[in-house]
Amino acid sequence: MHLFHVYVWPLIAVLAGNCAKGSGISGTNGYVEYFPGTPDSQVIITAAHGGYLKPSSIPDRTKGCLSGSTCIWTHTCGSTSSQCTAKTVRDTKTKELATELTKALETQTGKRPHLIVNHLSRVKLDPNREIGEATFNVAAALTAFNEYHKFITDARANITGAGLLFDIHGQSHPEKWIELGYLMSKKRLNENNLEPTLSSIRSLYNSHSTNMNFDALLRGNNSFGGLLSNHGYQVVPSPGNTSPGSGNYFSGGYTVKTYGSRNGGAIDAIQIESPYALRTSERATYVAALTAVVQNFLDLYY
Ligand SMILES: *[C@@H]1O[C@H](CO)[C@@H](O)[C@H](O)[C@H]1NC(C)=O
Ligand SMILES: *[C@@H]1O[C@H](CO)[C@@H](O)[C@H](O)[C@H]1NC(C)=O
Ligand SMILES: [Zn+2]
Repeated sequence: MHLFHVYVWPLIAVLAGNCAKGSGISGTNGYVEYFPGTPDSQVIITAAHGGYLKPSSIPDRTKGCLSGSTCIWTHTCGSTSSQCTAKTVRDTKTKELATELTKALETQTGKRPHLIVNHLSRVKLDPNREIGEATFNVAAALTAFNEYHKFITDARANITGAGLLFDIHGQSHPEKWIELGYLMSKKRLNENNLEPTLSSIRSLYNSHSTNMNFDALLRGNNSFGGLLSNHGYQVVPSPGNTSPGSGNYFSGGYTVKTYGSRNGGAIDAIQIESPYALRTSERATYVAALTAVVQNFLDLYY
């Protein structure tokens, strides 16, 4: 009894305290972090562009040099080119959005999604780019990049069977719509030239292709966009906005390319690019809607 109180109870208290604070598995210097999900969760949530840390030991990502038609992404490449300008703008409040969505899903379903967060500011690291552009070949940034992607790989390995990754981003396009990226280009969406084998939800399509066509899965009433637009949001693609037309649209980046099912496997991926208001003043309502839609989508297809 005494031993328990003296040695074991403080340990339990410390562990419980850490869980309550929500600390995850930290990468080197705490630059990236993995909050493992519960074993029964099929969801991974990633936030690459919402970090705040700007350690002076990592030089800012600025411009690379143009060599032929490719960029050389180092700080010592010589004369830089405006054609190789790194994007460094923060996706405001996407770390918070991803964290709150994770918590709400845990509360609603009892299953906690896997959450991977980049705490570094995008001016120091962009883990949603190829490694060179992401890090400018700076050692500490390379370490953080590799740890961020190792965590996603770990999360995928911890999911048995089908799963779904949401890569959380923000944009400030004048259309103010939610852009869902499945690796279907704006051109293909506009021209109704859809190609499931190129998409980040290829596995989802394959497992439902006997009773559902790809068009319906991508932008029908029971697509992710269709379900989300039922909450009163403008979403592309969705039944109300089947394609971007001449509007601005992000079709999906490095993370959904690398970890979705385009190249095989049973983990699908959707990039969610939310407009500013939904990440700031209207975030609480938006998180509740997203939570319901994720749950609904999983119930329908996974
Ligand atoms: C799975 O989750 C655990 C924590 O629950 C984590 O330590 C581990 O790295 C993850 N990956 C694998 C492959 O087990
Ligand atoms: C989608 O929903 C709308 C509005 O509820 C309905 O009019 C339409 O028939 C539905 N489309 C399909 C293909 O079920
Ligand atoms: Zn982004």
